Amino acid sequence: MYNEPMLKENALQGRTVVVTGGGTGLGRSMGKYFLQLGANLVIASRKMAVLEQTARELEAETGGKVLPVACDARHYPEVENVLKTSLETFGRVDALLNNAAGNFISPTERLTPKAFDVIVDIVLRGSYNFTLAFGKDWIEKGQKATILNIVTTYAWTGSGYVVPSACAKAGVLALTRSLAVEWAKYGIRSNAIAPGPFPTEGAWQRLFPEDVLPRELAEKMNPVNRIPLKRVGEHQELANLAAYLLSDYSSYVNGEVVTIDGGEWLYGAGEFSMLDQVPAPAWTEIEKAVRGKK
Ligand code: HXC
Ligand code: NAP
Repeated sequence: MYNEPMLKENALQGRTVVVTGGGTGLGRSMGKYFLQLGANLVIASRKMAVLEQTARELEAETGGKVLPVACDARHYPEVENVLKTSLETFGRVDALLNNAAGNFISPTERLTPKAFDVIVDIVLRGSYNFTLAFGKDWIEKGQKATILNIVTTYAWTGSGYVVPSACAKAGVLALTRSLAVEWAKYGIRSNAIAPGPFPTEGAWQRLFPEDVLPRELAEKMNPVNRIPLKRVGEHQELANLAAYLLSDYSSYVNGEVVTIDGGEWLYGAGEFSMLDQVPAPAWTEIEKAVRGKK
């Protein structure tokens, strides 16, 4: 049930949605659902061959129309070209999904300045480049639109070993909340989604390299162990939420960041969360001992 399409048919009929990083992983899955709901789709990232293949596959799977555009989100003129090409092809753009990202695990002291830059540039600069280019156009035309940004739960907690990503995602969250207020007068809503672990090749290769970690550590790092719901996310669940936040059904939702992580980050924050590992029978002894302390 939770991994079934949720919105009414045609919920995005006639809309054009631009998805950065839409050729792979979560961007691909969300884009596919937007097409199934009647949207036109623009997918933009660096690797044109990947985008073209995804575009062919998604058109065949959904019967929708997909425009692939090569673009490095770090470079503003390339982002302006995505806007131009999208307008030439579809006439208008109604929604922007800032989903492209770069990330890898590393102790911070091992990073060069360039390694820090590359992540912040893709995630933060890439998101504000797209937001600025598309936002200016919407404002000039007096057109209503929706922005949705993909962040992470460590955008507000921070996280060691992915510090450039944490800094960049925190910036994207600030962008989301700031423009939710500033651009509401133009009919532009800004929201964010903070996903917990959703398996994708891109993230798993760089964040959970199981094959090279000691086995015990790899087992410990399995995210399922710290997710209260004891499972990772399904792409359709995320796609349902993203489609809702882009659709008119969420017209009064603005400046929100919706966490979809099975309770993972709160598990990490809770002082006594680890007590879920106490076997049920042991609680009798524990209770006796605790009650005994007068
Ligand atoms: C230390 C590293 C490194 C590593 C690269 N660098 N990998 N430093 N440890 N593992 C350094 C390089 O040495 C170089 O610095 C600088 O970073 C730029 O590296 P390039 O390889 O030249 O960059 P580029 O080709 O642009 O590739 C960008 C990339 C790559 C980010 C490094 O991984 C990429 O293209 N990623 C895109 C997809 C992605 O990352 N997806 C995962 C998103 S998952 P020097 O100084 O040596 O030249 C995600 C999930 C979050 O965000 C939450 C999960 C729960
Ligand atoms: P992914 O498949 O690696 O997606 C990242 C995408 O970003 C790729 O399609 C990549 O395409 C694009 N990209 C990278 N650098 C770019 C650049 N300079 N310009 C334009 N596009 C660029 O990983 P994913 O797991 O689906 O991640 C998608 C989003 O979800 C990211 O924002 C990530 O932080 C977020 N997220 C994921 C998880 C998870 O568990 N998977 C959890 C929390 C948040 P090219 O290589 O073609 O450029």
